[in-house]
Amino acid sequence: MSKIILTGDRPTGKLHVGHYVGSLRRRVELQDSGEYDKVFIMIADAQALTDNAEHPEKVRQNVVEVALDYMACGLDPEKSTLFIQSQIPQLCELSFYYMNLVTVSRLQRNPTVKSEIQMRKFESSIPVGFFTYPISQAADITAFQATTVPAGEDQMPMVEQTREIVHKFNAVYGDTLVEPKILLPDNQACLRLPGTDGKAKMSKSLGNCIYLSEEADEIKKKVMSMFTDPNHLRVEDPGSLEGNTVFTYLDAFCRKEHFGRYLPEYEDLDELKAHYQRGGLGDVKVKKFLNHVLQEELELIRARRKELQKDIPYIYEVLRRGSEEAEQVAAQTLDKVRDAMKINYFSDTELIQGQAEKFQ
Ligand code: TRP
Repeated sequence: MSKIILTGDRPTGKLHVGHYVGSLRRRVELQDSGEYDKVFIMIADAQALTDNAEHPEKVRQNVVEVALDYMACGLDPEKSTLFIQSQIPQLCELSFYYMNLVTVSRLQRNPTVKSEIQMRKFESSIPVGFFTYPISQAADITAFQATTVPAGEDQMPMVEQTREIVHKFNAVYGDTLVEPKILLPDNQACLRLPGTDGKAKMSKSLGNCIYLSEEADEIKKKVMSMFTDPNHLRVEDPGSLEGNTVFTYLDAFCRKEHFGRYLPEYEDLDELKAHYQRGGLGDVKVKKFLNHVLQEELELIRARRKELQKDIPYIYEVLRRGSEEAEQVAAQTLDKVRDAMKINYFSDTELIQGQAEKFQ
């Protein structure tokens, strides 16, 4: 069986370091590994509209921002198909059929939907489109026969829901769809990178994100004001690593070679952590180190982004070509789905023949 990747992001803002360690960095590795037959990366504008119906311009503006972030990180249109969700009409049709296979109570139990309803204070005024977005996400994944969905932990319930739909579909209509698996980050810190203020979720409105396109002095400012251990008041005090954002970021970003370059008095992160816990290591020193580490990683991305920004029509051309290719693939899956569901009236000659005989 071929190995196929599909994943994506909602274009509601520029991408930040949480997206990067949670999924983007991995996608690039997977793309370059040569282990996958196809890699589809989708800008989920239609999904973004499920809770931004009144803000179409915001979604529209952010499509190109996300595409720039993707390519700046190393997603390469020669190796991956980058496309825009709304340009693939087959996804709507698949969603429409899958809706028959999912109950309202099952959607209500979807943990991501549940928490987003709370967060957005939707209560019973939730738009139907938003409520059913797990179903449309199942369409996104299955349309490309994806076997693998590299994504953050928050997408787990979506992939689970997709697997259930696939299971049900195949049971009712015969083996047609592929059951996907989520591919989570292998490092605990990358599963859910906190905001710079230590809050669990990075969000634009909280102002606690470091964006991939952030300028060097902004990165430094954000790192130097990061949340650490509130009880670590004096350098001599023992410090705690629990909930200490600076160390969580180091867990996500730091490699052994960074010590040689920026903090040679320590062998590795374990040694730095031990010193912090013992006492005698100040926050500022650790923050300065993290700043070096982040600057090194983000500098290249920022430079590539600036280069790409010089030719925006090219970015749209990449997305147009990608969307055309994605549509062809989705259309093939839809043909199979229509066959399986017996709504292929005009291409099924046996049906026409059989009916003709019945009425003789
Ligand atoms: N829900 C994802 C997000 O919030 C975006 C998305 C839409 C997606 N369809 C997908 C991710 C399919 C993985 C697979 O960013």
